[in-house]
Amino acid sequence: MKGVILAGGKGVRLYPLTKVTNKHLLPVGREPMILNPIKQLVSAGITEILVVTSTEHMGDVVNLLGSGNEFGVDFSYKVQEKSGGIAHALLLAENFAKGERIVVVLGDNIAVKSIKPYVNNFSRQERGARVLLKEVGEPTRYGIAALDEENIVEIIEKPGKPKTNFAVIGYYMYDQQVFDFIEKQRPSERGELEITDVNNEYIKRSELKHDILEGDWTDAGTFESLFIANQMLNQCQNKIQE
Ligand code: G1P
Repeated sequence: MKGVILAGGKGVRLYPLTKVTNKHLLPVGREPMILNPIKQLVSAGITEILVVTSTEHMGDVVNLLGSGNEFGVDFSYKVQEKSGGIAHALLLAENFAKGERIVVVLGDNIAVKSIKPYVNNFSRQERGARVLLKEVGEPTRYGIAALDEENIVEIIEKPGKPKTNFAVIGYYMYDQQVFDFIEKQRPSERGELEITDVNNEYIKRSELKHDILEGDWTDAGTFESLFIANQMLNQCQNKIQE
């Protein structure tokens, strides 16, 4: 299994913090934000990792991360020239994946406990995709899952009237079908290729499984959530708990 970290975007919700610095390089606890998703993949045993970021920030990201020696991994890099949504960025990982399964992490998602158990569940899964859910206080900010007794029946991106508080958070596990789904996708009303539409394709085929993430989690794309992320990682000194 290979890992993909999506670290593009303009980070406009954090202006002016992100006017010259990439959001994923901002300090969270004692380290740049992007180290949490990297350590998460490493903790799950993933050592081939592609980092996608924008042209203007690639130099900084490579300066920080290097070859991967320091982390015991092998980094590849891919430039996203225009921001067109999460699924659009993921399409850049097609050649890197070379038909292998991938674990995709959004570079601004911060979690304290290792995602390893869920990645192991995905390894045992015959085909399809796997996502992680977390109950959130502000469901209108996320992709929100509607559930029956066992499965996710639909995901709605930033719903006006959320049916549940279960957000589909930024750790996605996919088989090779993901790239075919993205290639057939159309941009949403906000002009983006949405990861939620990709996940809904898997639901249509009854191939989307899920786990509920244990332990603290937050995104870090707004001032409030960045503050929470700082508190979380200060407390554990940026260590991932196995
Ligand atoms: C993105 C996804 C959303 C997901 C969230 C998790 O939202 O579109 O489905 O719940 O990440 O962090 P964004 O942060 O781009 O608004």
